[in-house]
Amino acid sequence: MTGSYPNTRLRRSRATGWSRALHRENLITPADLIWPLFVTEGNGVEEPIASLPGVSRWSVDGIVARAKEAVALGIPVVALFPNTQPDRRSDDGAEAHNPDNLMCRAIRAIKDACGDDIGVLTDVALDPYTSHGQDGLLNTDGYVVNDDTVAVLVDQAINQAEAGADIIAPSDMMDGRIRAIRMALEMGDHHNVQIMSYAAKYASAFYGPFRDAVGSGGLLKGDKKSYQMDPANSDEALREVEFDIAEGADSVMVKPGLAYLDIIYRVKQQFGVPVFAYQVSGEYAMLEAASSVGAGDRDALLMEKLLAFKRAGCSGVLTYHAPVAARLLNG
Ligand code: PBG
Repeated sequence: MTGSYPNTRLRRSRATGWSRALHRENLITPADLIWPLFVTEGNGVEEPIASLPGVSRWSVDGIVARAKEAVALGIPVVALFPNTQPDRRSDDGAEAHNPDNLMCRAIRAIKDACGDDIGVLTDVALDPYTSHGQDGLLNTDGYVVNDDTVAVLVDQAINQAEAGADIIAPSDMMDGRIRAIRMALEMGDHHNVQIMSYAAKYASAFYGPFRDAVGSGGLLKGDKKSYQMDPANSDEALREVEFDIAEGADSVMVKPGLAYLDIIYRVKQQFGVPVFAYQVSGEYAMLEAASSVGAGDRDALLMEKLLAFKRAGCSGVLTYHAPVAARLLNG
C-alpha cells in the first residue's frame, strides 16, 4: 500500500504550489454554496441584524437585488426566511399559507427577475408565523402536536410551490411530513419541485441569531427538544435520514454544520445521497467574533471550514458567508 521512508516522502508532493494544486483532493466552488436571506416588509428597506454582523434583512426589492448578485457570483441557490410582521403572527400560524404572504411575494419577485438562473429554496416550518415561536401547533399542554402540524405544513409547502419555489426545505422535524408534502406536490402537478429535508436537525444553541433575524426569539418560550434531535445522538440521525429518503426527499441536510461533521460523514457513507450542511447563524457569528478580536484571519478560517464540509461528503453548504466566500473564490 505505502512505501517506507526514504523511498516514500509524503512531503515531496507538498513542496510546491503547483504540486499541492495537482494533489488537492477536495475543492470548494461558488456552485457549492446556498445563500440564506431574510425578507422583511417595505420598499428600499435594509435592516442590519445586530447578532449577525454583516447580514441584513431586505425588503422584497432588495432580495431581488441579492438574487441577481448571487447569479453574478455563481451561487446557484438562495434560501428565504421571512420576518413576518407581528400582527400577522397567530397561534395557528395561518399566515404561512396566505398566498400573498411575504415569502410568496419574494419567491415570485425573484422568479420574475431571474427565472431559472437561480434556484429558490424555501423553509417549511411555522416559527416565523406563530405568536409562540414554535415550529408547529400547540395543544393545551403546550406540546407541539405532530399530525395536525403536518397538515398545515403541507398547505404551507404547496403555497410556496405555487408561488414558484424550486426546493421545499422542511425544517420542522415533525414525523411523516416529507411523505405528506411529496404526495401533495405530486397531486398538484409539481413533479419537479425538489424536497431538501432538514433530516437531522439538532436542538442546538447555535440558532440564536437566526431567531433574532426572523423575530421569533423573543416570542419563544421553552425549547424545541420534543421535536429537534438530542445533540448526544448519531444513530438516530441515520434513522431520520432513512425515513426522509424513503418518504421522497431528494436531498438531506444536517444542521448545524461544523459540530456535526461526523453525522454528515456517516450519512454520506451509509446512503450515498446528496447531503447538505447548514452552517448556522451562531457559527457565522462565532467566526466573525473571533476574527474581529484578531483570533484568526476571517477569510482563511472561512475557507478552511467550508472545505471541511466538502471533505466530510457534502454536496453543498448553506452559509451566510456565501457571498463573501464566492467573491474570494472568484478572485
Ligand atoms: C426554523 C429554523 C431555524 C433555523 C432554520 N430554520 C431555527 C430554529 O429551529 O429555531 C436556524 C438557522 C440558523 O440558525 O441559521 N424552523
